[in-house]
Amino acid sequence: MSNEAKSGNGGQGEADKYFRLIAENLTDMIALVDITGRRLYCTPNYSFLGDPEKMTGTDSFIDIHPEDKERIKGIFFETVRSGIGQSTQYRLLLKDGSVRHIQSQGIAVKAPDGKVEKVIIVSRDITEAKDAAEKQKALEMQLFQADKLNSLGKTISGVAHELNNPLTGIMGFCQLLLRDEAIQENSRHREDIDTIFREAERCQKIVRNLTTFARKHKPEKTFIGLNGLLEDSLRLQQHQLDLHNITVTKELEPDLPKTMADFHQLQQVLMNLIGNAQDAMGQQTAKKLLAIKTRKIGGFIRVELADSGPGIPADCLGNIFEPFFTTKEPGKGTGLGLSISFGIIAGHGGRIWAENIPGGGARFSIELPIAEEPAPGDKKTAGAEPAALKGQRVLIIDDEQCVMDVTVRILRTLNLSPDTARDSETARKKIASGNYDAVVCDYRLPGQNGLDLFKWAKNLKPELEKRWIFISGSSGGEELSTTGRPVLAKPFSFEALQEALGEVLK
Ligand SMILES: Nc1ncnc2c1ncn2[C@@H]1O[C@H](COP(=O)(O)OP(=O)(O)OP(=O)(O)O)[C@@H](O)[C@H]1O
Ligand SMILES: [Mg+2]
Repeated sequence: MSNEAKSGNGGQGEADKYFRLIAENLTDMIALVDITGRRLYCTPNYSFLGDPEKMTGTDSFIDIHPEDKERIKGIFFETVRSGIGQSTQYRLLLKDGSVRHIQSQGIAVKAPDGKVEKVIIVSRDITEAKDAAEKQKALEMQLFQADKLNSLGKTISGVAHELNNPLTGIMGFCQLLLRDEAIQENSRHREDIDTIFREAERCQKIVRNLTTFARKHKPEKTFIGLNGLLEDSLRLQQHQLDLHNITVTKELEPDLPKTMADFHQLQQVLMNLIGNAQDAMGQQTAKKLLAIKTRKIGGFIRVELADSGPGIPADCLGNIFEPFFTTKEPGKGTGLGLSISFGIIAGHGGRIWAENIPGGGARFSIELPIAEEPAPGDKKTAGAEPAALKGQRVLIIDDEQCVMDVTVRILRTLNLSPDTARDSETARKKIASGNYDAVVCDYRLPGQNGLDLFKWAKNLKPELEKRWIFISGSSGGEELSTTGRPVLAKPFSFEALQEALGEVLK
């Protein structure tokens, strides 16, 4: 091309003029540098680095990000040596601290003896495309994660359901035994049974955690101020934080807008994050700091929790939100905390992410959408005194032997008169022909499910509608709660069943 320009009409000077005009009107940036890397000429669109006129003679590597500089020098001097230009990507670090991503192509300019005497560098700012690609990747990761959680959730909710039935039996029989006079007099037996009960309660908590994680129904949302929620959660952990010598600093934006959220679920997320920070700082001798910040960003409320622990190992950063991923020793962590938190925040239309803080520590950020609060509505009024239980006839409908046995025993202990049905067919016959004062009915049943049975029964005997109590393993919760009837989650306690019966038998 330059040969043509030399011999063409108008000669070299004319051609230079046109090439300069083209170069200076392209969106790409063009620089001519000597073989030591010093700039000889820069197009005006380099002005974001300074005045291009004054760049002549300056070092072309000076604005390259320190982490990329050596690599780029290597590529440049290889081009000078071999005469073969290369294409590469790197970052520029601007004076204001911001970073631009650049794609460059080097072109060797050779002297007649074949030696490289200059290099032309054609560059393009790809920062926006790169940001968009990263956002897209993050979005795909979130979708992938949500999908994986969803299928795992299905398995877990099945397992939880299976565990809730035997747990109902274990806890119910323990409570019955603890009421037995002979046991009450024998302190050793009482303590043993108490231990069994407490350990079963531990299992119940694990199963509850698993079901929260797996839960498909929508959270129960009210208007919540996150500052208050944070203060509450800190108060609950205060003792532990003091014990571990952790200093908490708070930067809570006053007048922070509210969000629509399930209080208990969000509290669970915060407790998980505070607990993790505490574990991360563990035995370290350096000062233990937990810095909490809230602020409004666009249509979102952002909560940040930053600790002064060791940070998250780089090779774990991509896994910490996965279910059962833990670096804690066996018995210390189940690896569910963050995956549960991820599910909860996603269920609120928000997002949660983690990053390491340059200089040490990890920062977890949550963003939740801002919600406008409506005018205050009516509050629910408290119920009246429960009825005395004496001889009333109660039909228990459940196909699980152990749940059936323990419920029968609890009803007898409460001086009620239980009857049983193990499937919907038998239940229908008994309801049609018998006179029951109350019904305790499982959701999952052989034949018709508990909800359909309830609808059928209230048509036939409208008085039963207000005398119906549901029990449920883990499924059907949301559907059942639309009936307005009490729903006891298995494993339910003696007291919970007693209270529900007292209410319906009023
Ligand atoms: N603040 C933090 N600093 C460093 N690493 C963290 C921090 N928070 C979480 N992690 C890492 O993420 C992993 C997963 O956390 P997650 O809360 O899901 O599970 P866990 O705390 O190990 O167990 P669980 O919460 O079920 O008791 C942790 O084991 C730890 O390696
Ligand atoms: Mg945890």
